[in-house]
Amino acid sequence: MSCFKFIGLSSIAVIVLAFYLHEYNSGILAYLSAHFPVVSRLIHGFYLTGKSKDGIPLSNSKTEKTVLLSSEELKKYGGSGRNGKLYLSILGKIFDVTKGKKHYGEGGGYSFFTGRDASRAYVTGDFTETGLIDEVLDLTPQQLKGLQGWLEFYIKEYKYVGKLIGRYYDPMGRKTEYLQQVEEIIKEAQRKERENDAEKRKYPPCNTEWSASKGSRVWCSNKSGGILRDWVGVPRKLYVVGSSTPRCVCVRHPSEKHLDGPSLSDPQLEEYPGCHKDSISCSIKT
Ligand code: HEM
Repeated sequence: MSCFKFIGLSSIAVIVLAFYLHEYNSGILAYLSAHFPVVSRLIHGFYLTGKSKDGIPLSNSKTEKTVLLSSEELKKYGGSGRNGKLYLSILGKIFDVTKGKKHYGEGGGYSFFTGRDASRAYVTGDFTETGLIDEVLDLTPQQLKGLQGWLEFYIKEYKYVGKLIGRYYDPMGRKTEYLQQVEEIIKEAQRKERENDAEKRKYPPCNTEWSASKGSRVWCSNKSGGILRDWVGVPRKLYVVGSSTPRCVCVRHPSEKHLDGPSLSDPQLEEYPGCHKDSISCSIKT
């Protein structure tokens, strides 16, 4: 069985297993997120992008209400809730998640998130008491961006209640230095992502495959690298400053009429040895 088939089948098995088990077993969830982070990201990527929208500002009018709760007050909205109401906090913003009782109510797969701010666990998948905490500044910019994704999800899906006094908001409801630092890192990560997206549109990545019998092959198609376009291009090695290894990108061929865009004579580009310069597919000899 090829390596790709194996990865594909195991991923499907993990997803099916997760659908059956995730509601009632946080241990299995934590295990799956630790051992299959890509699958977990895939599921929640689809899940979140299906429900949330990119570009919601870090704070907006919906999260500027002045209701302030202490951590003791918030705690009452955990477990079975207070008067049937369940609250959770993420990055210091409190949401009413009562309508998501099947996930957050007692016995639900994510009940541990209620009654507290466990921002860190959203991106580490550590659902133990030591992991369910609000400390996040030591996480990577990528993880903080993931956390911002969860915040956007809650803004979109649940009712905003107010702010939690503590790490992110002071007793007057003003942002703490800590939150300002977190937001700066997220903004920077979002800026870098926009830059990467622009770079990917300029030089879409090639499709790649590997098999023990044939070795590696790179090729271009009109949606390689996830960039849907009206041209195909030819594979070239792209050398970028700061990276020791080139990556395979698709560059528009002169026969694919274009007036602008990168040129095949860009000195950062190199042909694959043994591959015809006009071919859309190259076998790579190692
Ligand atoms: C970092 C680890 C994880 C976190 C923080 C997390 C968090 C969550 C939360 C908060 C929800 C409920 C969203 C809502 O309010 O509607 C959810 C739903 C879900 N999670 Fe996870 N999860 C994690 C790992 C996983 C893993 C490893 C899987 C499976 C491989 C998984 C599968 C699902 C599925 C299928 C749903 C949707 C359930 C439904 O809509 O009925 N999760 N997750």
